[in-house]
Amino acid sequence: MPDQDRMTLRRAATADLSPGELAELRHLLDHAYPDGFDDHDWQHALGGTHVLGRLGGDLVAHAAVRPRTLWLDGTPRHTGYVEAVAVVAPLRGQGLGTALMAEVADVIAADYELGGLCASAKAIPLYRRLGWREWPGPSHVRTDHGPVPTPEEDGAVFVLLPTGLDAVPGTGLGCDWRTGDVW
Ligand SMILES: CC(C)(COP(=O)(O)OP(=O)(O)OC[C@H]1O[C@@H](n2cnc3c(N)ncnc32)[C@H](O)[C@@H]1OP(=O)(O)O)[C@@H](O)C(=O)NCCC(=O)NCCS
Repeated sequence: MPDQDRMTLRRAATADLSPGELAELRHLLDHAYPDGFDDHDWQHALGGTHVLGRLGGDLVAHAAVRPRTLWLDGTPRHTGYVEAVAVVAPLRGQGLGTALMAEVADVIAADYELGGLCASAKAIPLYRRLGWREWPGPSHVRTDHGPVPTPEEDGAVFVLLPTGLDAVPGTGLGCDWRTGDVW
């Protein structure tokens, strides 16, 4: 049986993960990201719903969906923001990431107005294939001093629109400030 059919997926709130599971998750993420996974990235992954993929008892895949406000054309939208998407390196290219992100889409459709994420170059084909759309306008971060454009992230910010909202070319998309990567 292919690995993506044998992998079991479980949803869990951060508060329901044991210290052992959190350590296992951090280990997975520390080894999955070629450019590093720092403590800010870790904090961004906590506080929402985790989708955990296990194969033979081992944690092999993970994504987090965190509640966050994104400002779509100036209107606040209850967003499931996706963080810490990872599949262990030896098992990539077999559909595990696809199965993981299908479950993430179900979480977003059930609980949020839209999904959002900032894609690594390698993951963009996967997200596109699953219906995520590159945001077609400028992105910005909201600060105490007003909106600050984030042109370095234009082209990497993707949205999933399960509730009929549209991605109108030229329309702005904003996020609230946070430490670490704002998107
Ligand atoms: C991005 C990531 C999660 C993808 O996971 P994955 O398990 O390799 O994803 P999949 O196997 O479902 O899809 C990857 C490719 O394998 C191909 N594939 C999937 N199932 C396959 C199969 N059974 N046989 C052959 N090829 C297959 C797909 O066509 C897909 O190609 P595409 O992405 O160009 O469309 C993984 O590469 C990863 O952890 N990367 C490091 C961390 C990272 O960058 N995370 C994303 C942050 S935004």
